[in-house]
Amino acid sequence: TSPFAPRHLLSIADLTPTEFATLVRNAASHKHAIKSGSIPESLLGSLSGKTVAMMFNKRSTRTRVSTEAATVQMGGHPMFLGKDDIQLGVNESVYDTSVVISSMVSCIVARVAKHSDVADLAQHSTVPVINALCDSFHPLQIIADFLTIYESFPTKGGPLSGLGLEGLKIAWVGDANNVLFDLAIGATKMGVDMAVATPKGYEIPADMLDIIQGAGQGVPNAGKLTQTNIPEEAVKDADILVTDTWVSMGQEEEAKKRMRAFEGFQITADLAKRGGAKEGWKFMHCLPRHPEEVSDEVFYSPRSLVFPEAENRLWAAIAALEGFVVKKGKIVE
Ligand code: CP
Ligand code: NVA
Repeated sequence: TSPFAPRHLLSIADLTPTEFATLVRNAASHKHAIKSGSIPESLLGSLSGKTVAMMFNKRSTRTRVSTEAATVQMGGHPMFLGKDDIQLGVNESVYDTSVVISSMVSCIVARVAKHSDVADLAQHSTVPVINALCDSFHPLQIIADFLTIYESFPTKGGPLSGLGLEGLKIAWVGDANNVLFDLAIGATKMGVDMAVATPKGYEIPADMLDIIQGAGQGVPNAGKLTQTNIPEEAVKDADILVTDTWVSMGQEEEAKKRMRAFEGFQITADLAKRGGAKEGWKFMHCLPRHPEEVSDEVFYSPRSLVFPEAENRLWAAIAALEGFVVKKGKIVE
């Protein structure tokens, strides 16, 4: 790559612990300032005259609304390009699309299926590419999730390479998917332990385990990841119970088979009790939510952080656009 190649955000794995923690802290401080009625000087008009292309090959509520709204708050123009709007995939290659679009805009936010598609887009783009979800990662979601955790649990302070959350335990009960992979990478970097319970045959693939474990290299007190096929085991002593849909976008044909395989993996108050979650445990879910993976009782309870978590997508998007577009990837100055 040339020294002028832009920096991209394809996964939390692309960030050092200090950069990840800084994006979360910046999101928190921008949230506080803007909600108190003053937009920080550094953000005001920071994308003025700039266009952010939003290439979405899949449906989206939160990611689309948060990235468009973030662009507008920073004075830029969001250009939504749905899969029926542009030639990509039907008439034109990823390479040609990337070269052409990046010659006209300041950033590409892209939601695609295969990770290699967003990686190819980034490789040939002359402007930063921000992954808005692919089959392997969902970095904007994980910045928002750690913002939510940072706001909801006491932080111990400490070095800028962390958020002072060391020692927390997250239990993920459900499918090993894109959201889990980036969450586990973030947790490893932040010294947060994770226990993952999936049905047999739905565990984290070996190549992804390598990436997650690699995220802890050189990180003092890196979070530890364990896997089990027993939900109760994962939930034991957990501070946060997390899940996501059992049928991700693109897996619709497997829906019936998956429903059967995941039976017994619904997050319920009873599971938390049986498994011995910590007394003050909280619940998180990236949304959209389906009733099978979590009971209404938990989803709509005071333990549930799901709606602040969804709102935090906006603040995460602002921090990411600031870090990758305004500061050109020099997140830590
Ligand atoms: N959590 C999330 O990414 O939601 P959308 O698919 O609605 O963007
Ligand atoms: N795992 C889900 C997340 C949606 C935000 C999917 O990929 O469909």
